[in-house]
Amino acid sequence: MTRFTAATALPVVSLLASQAAAWGNLGHETVGYVASNFVSAKTKQWAQDILGDDSEDYLGAVATWADSFKYTDEGEFSSGLHYIDAEDDPPNSCNVDFDRDCPEDGCVVSAIANYTSRVQDTSLDSEQTSQALKFIVHFIGDIHQPLHDEAAEIGGNTINVTFDGEETNLHSYAQSWAANLTGSIKNGKYSTASKKWLANIDIDDAQAGAMIMASDANSHVCSTVMPDGVEGIEGDELYPEYYNKSIGVIEMMIAKAGYRLAAWLDMIATGETKLTRTFDATSSPAPPLRWRTRLSSTMARAVS
Ligand SMILES: *[C@@H]1O[C@H](CO)[C@@H](O)[C@H](O)[C@H]1NC(C)=O
Ligand SMILES: *[C@@H]1O[C@H](CO)[C@@H](O)[C@H](O)[C@H]1NC(C)=O
Ligand SMILES: *[C@@H]1O[C@H](CO)[C@@H](O)[C@H](O)[C@H]1NC(C)=O
Ligand SMILES: *[C@@H]1O[C@H](CO)[C@@H](O)[C@H](O)[C@H]1NC(C)=O
Ligand SMILES: [Zn+2]
Repeated sequence: MTRFTAATALPVVSLLASQAAAWGNLGHETVGYVASNFVSAKTKQWAQDILGDDSEDYLGAVATWADSFKYTDEGEFSSGLHYIDAEDDPPNSCNVDFDRDCPEDGCVVSAIANYTSRVQDTSLDSEQTSQALKFIVHFIGDIHQPLHDEAAEIGGNTINVTFDGEETNLHSYAQSWAANLTGSIKNGKYSTASKKWLANIDIDDAQAGAMIMASDANSHVCSTVMPDGVEGIEGDELYPEYYNKSIGVIEMMIAKAGYRLAAWLDMIATGETKLTRTFDATSSPAPPLRWRTRLSSTMARAVS
């Protein structure tokens, strides 16, 4: 069997392995680094101030915090906020419905809205503000993982798979992978597609914006992740067929998550983003709102 380098192998492990490894440190850190390559200078300063980190790693370094926090007594409440369990029917039909799928205790969609509101709430102390930002960085990664938007087999966590890979230095790999994805967005294979990645995404209705991301990721469950249902991948060796079929989507979702995170943080920190944003009246109507967050323009100015 071909020995794949751990670096290329990890995204698939992340996608299908245990909850603890879900989407993986590599995926989350890469999303953080991609975002830091696209945020405006003001946004960078704003985020570095909140996180108390003026290094270039300020987003990558906090991208996995929420996956550790959920195992602490203080953070236990947040373990259900990493996903939304879509009660759809893959591979026949894939869809996310906020009222059907997000429980009263919250899900990744309501959490993104909550922490988008909280990071702008000047009445919170610096610890709470910093936690809100770290949650946003992490959850915008999680929501782009197709299996975090799917209930089948508990978000894919119990699907048994093996993979021919091994651990490696995730941190430095995340940076170089992010550099590659950044190039692909700026003037590579995603340069045309990425012009539409921010369509209709706005923090003024953070829940609707997060639903666009969740629906987007969930649509790949039917087309790529489980085209033959759970039985299609249960117990299989993932390399090379499944890996080859899904790596393109996984990579695109990581690039998308990073790009969308950058725009999201820009909008919070400065009320606008210079990244291309289009509005298309015909697509993705906003779901019924249980609650929504509003950006106060005064607040936006105060933090910019
Ligand atoms: C928002 O986040 C705070 C802090 O983590 C949490 O206590 C609160 O329950 C959340 N609210 C909602 C509506 O999710
Ligand atoms: C995966 O393996 C575990 C342990 O052997 C087993 O309990 C579980 O039912 C399996 N999952 C599926 C979907 O078959
Ligand atoms: C990213 O990596 C791929 C595979 O190694 C390569 O084909 C592509 O040209 C790289 N893109 C950029 C923008 O560096
Ligand atoms: C999977 O991808 C690898 C690496 O690009 C390639 O060498 C291999 O032939 C592919 N296998 C299949 C079955 O497509
Ligand atoms: Zn997570």
